[in-house]
Amino acid sequence: MPRVVVFNEFGGPDVMQIIEEPVVEPAVGEVRVRIEAFAVNPLDQMMRSGTSPATVPLPHARLGVEGTGVVDALGPEITGLKVGDPVILTAIPDAGVRGSYAEYTTVPASRVLARPAGLAITEAAAIWVAYSTAYGALVEKARLRPGDHVLITAASGGVGRAAMQIANQIGAVPIAITRHTANTDDLLAAGAAAVIATDGVDVVEAVRRHTGGTGADIVLDVVMGPGQQDLLKAVRPGGTLVAAGFLDSRPTPFPTSAPLTIFSYRSFEHTLDTVVVKRMAAFLNAGVRLGALRPAIDKVFALDDVVEAHRHLEKGLHAGKKIVTV
Ligand SMILES: NC(=O)c1ccc[n+]([C@@H]2O[C@H](COP(=O)([O-])OP(=O)(O)OC[C@H]3O[C@@H](n4cnc5c(N)ncnc54)[C@H](OP(=O)(O)O)[C@@H]3O)[C@@H](O)[C@H]2O)c1
Repeated sequence: MPRVVVFNEFGGPDVMQIIEEPVVEPAVGEVRVRIEAFAVNPLDQMMRSGTSPATVPLPHARLGVEGTGVVDALGPEITGLKVGDPVILTAIPDAGVRGSYAEYTTVPASRVLARPAGLAITEAAAIWVAYSTAYGALVEKARLRPGDHVLITAASGGVGRAAMQIANQIGAVPIAITRHTANTDDLLAAGAAAVIATDGVDVVEAVRRHTGGTGADIVLDVVMGPGQQDLLKAVRPGGTLVAAGFLDSRPTPFPTSAPLTIFSYRSFEHTLDTVVVKRMAAFLNAGVRLGALRPAIDKVFALDDVVEAHRHLEKGLHAGKKIVTV
């Protein structure tokens, strides 16, 4: 019988178990996907440990908001898809029930898109969450334009690397922020115009230097915590900060500084909107086709090693996406 990852209580990576259970037949408007690979995201770790704002239906909760595979069965009233089509799963909102950590999942047809041509399975599994988040935050929310200086926090991570590639695709200037000077060469090779390592320099002063004294136009903050204060000081008056993640679990002081626009971004506000999804998919497909967008893969695990994949994520030292092949 097909295998699926479930957990019955909140806790560390060990609470995840692989069990066997029958596939779910697709209802009206649904498709079943045979999953080939899925990505491990920080949201999965939060759902598993009980720290996610998302609803987690214990016991027998599932995990996984994205992945790739082929259409395995169609429910009634599906048009535009056929069995065998290669697809990606886009941000499954009820991942606790239909998560992608499995050999099969059954989802609304609106949650799948054609797999971008030219990507390896491991890359296709990793493209949606990171790139749709970076695109949504930078382009749809902050209106990133050519020539803009954009500060990208946690640049070593999945969203950070996607944001750097998207900024380059648009003709903006990505300035990467990392905690470790040792990551500088890697981030320059990944597309950063400049790298600011918080273990080595004063962030505000470094941003001024890299922006000709004016400050950044846009900040993508997926870290938050006390470090956000420096980011706010590094933005030019009238600039924009988009808060889209929370890698630093320490409290974030209330932002009182400067005349800035501050957005709080949750990608589900866009990924459930078919009009924006159409724009996102067009942007991603064009970027992949032109070679500007390509997910960086940190490490690939087998399904049997899913617990190890979560342990690796929790170390917080990875560079790019963690993928599990099924
Ligand atoms: N708003 C949304 O809809 C949305 C969508 C997707 C993701 N997110 C959120 O965005 C954040 C980033 O996601 P991701 O997939 O890019 O994560 P990720 O790939 O796990 O990011 C890993 C990188 O983040 C940096 N990092 C880790 N812990 C940190 C800490 N405590 N303080 C500062 N930097 C830290 C590290 O880089 P260095 O070692 O180089 O510093 C690490 O390599 C997460 O909080 C995630 O939940 C939000």
